[in-house]
Amino acid sequence: MNKQNRSLLHLMVGLGSLLLFARTSIVASQPQIRKQPFESTTEKKPVDLYTLTNVNGVEISIMTYGGIVVSLKVPDRKGKLQEVTLGYDTLDGYLKNNSPYFGALIGRYGNRIGKGKFSLGGQEYRLATNNGESHLHGGNRGFDKAVWKPTEVRGQKSVGLKLDYVSADGEEGYPGALSVTAVYTLTNENELKIDYAASTTKETIVNLTNHAYFNLGADANILKHELMINADRFTPISEAFIPTGELRSVKGTPMDFTKPMAIGARISQKDEQLIRGNGYDHNWVLNRKDTSLSLAARVEEPTSGRVLEVFTTEPGVQFYTGNFLDGTIKGKAGKVYQQRAGFCLETQHFPDSPNKPNFPSTVLKPGQKYATTTIYKFSAK
Ligand code: BGC
Repeated sequence: MNKQNRSLLHLMVGLGSLLLFARTSIVASQPQIRKQPFESTTEKKPVDLYTLTNVNGVEISIMTYGGIVVSLKVPDRKGKLQEVTLGYDTLDGYLKNNSPYFGALIGRYGNRIGKGKFSLGGQEYRLATNNGESHLHGGNRGFDKAVWKPTEVRGQKSVGLKLDYVSADGEEGYPGALSVTAVYTLTNENELKIDYAASTTKETIVNLTNHAYFNLGADANILKHELMINADRFTPISEAFIPTGELRSVKGTPMDFTKPMAIGARISQKDEQLIRGNGYDHNWVLNRKDTSLSLAARVEEPTSGRVLEVFTTEPGVQFYTGNFLDGTIKGKAGKVYQQRAGFCLETQHFPDSPNKPNFPSTVLKPGQKYATTTIYKFSAK
């Protein structure tokens, strides 16, 4: 081989290894899905845990039991990943502790239905009253306690988990067999997107949401988080936490989050609604022109710089400040969850809509498709 050919060969080998290196690094920089069994001693059906990871290292674990977001790790302003959701380390934690819906998919009806009853097509339906005299989050065995059928979804710039569940006709008192799909997608833009879809065999009601509790910082409570809710009105509640039917202006009240405000700044005020809710536990009527995805809320944790933005196609959001957490739950990594250890932003139709003709309808008829989308987008400032 002459000198010229030798240098050509070296060049080709060099190029080859460069290409190989580039290919390996492209493969490693793809978002990933990992599946593992989630051990349980009490659940009959096998439960799996799926971990989705994006190119920034953001990691979300979802289990097939309840479609529960078991863990979500996102970076702070220095790039440090930290768990930002409340929950348990094990499946049995969720099963044995009567979990307050940590991270769960909620259905058939998110939040309360007054006296656990409603009428459709001239017929009255009675649901389980599992919260005083109200029906809450789908009843005794809501979608948060169902084992969902998983399918992995792989995209170029995202990974996802599709979860399917068929709720039988009459389950928890609801009419119609309801086929439900929830698709969790983690994008390389640090978004957790949830697409909900459903169809029914008989006229029914549907209101699906997710019940993740967030704490974006290291404090034991979320009082210093700064919150903006894109809503000029909210739905005040009765002493039984049921909307009165009024859409009330937030102006001049502690419910006004139209400009960013620390969650704890007014939470202890002697305000009738805050006293009834034991803190914030209300539905806000989102400002929107149509049903396209739009910004519902933005939360910033000043110390870590973590920011959560919530976008939704839904008309409302339930802002709940973990008022019923009381230090009796020992969660992830042995953390004891005191009151206000986390907050929820549950995108939804308004509570008790089936009994409130002036609220947007939650009725689903055979042949219609229920479809809503919510995005939780994380960044740091
Ligand atoms: C409700 C709270 C309830 C909580 C259950 C929230 O969506 O608004 O009143 O206590 O869920 O953990």
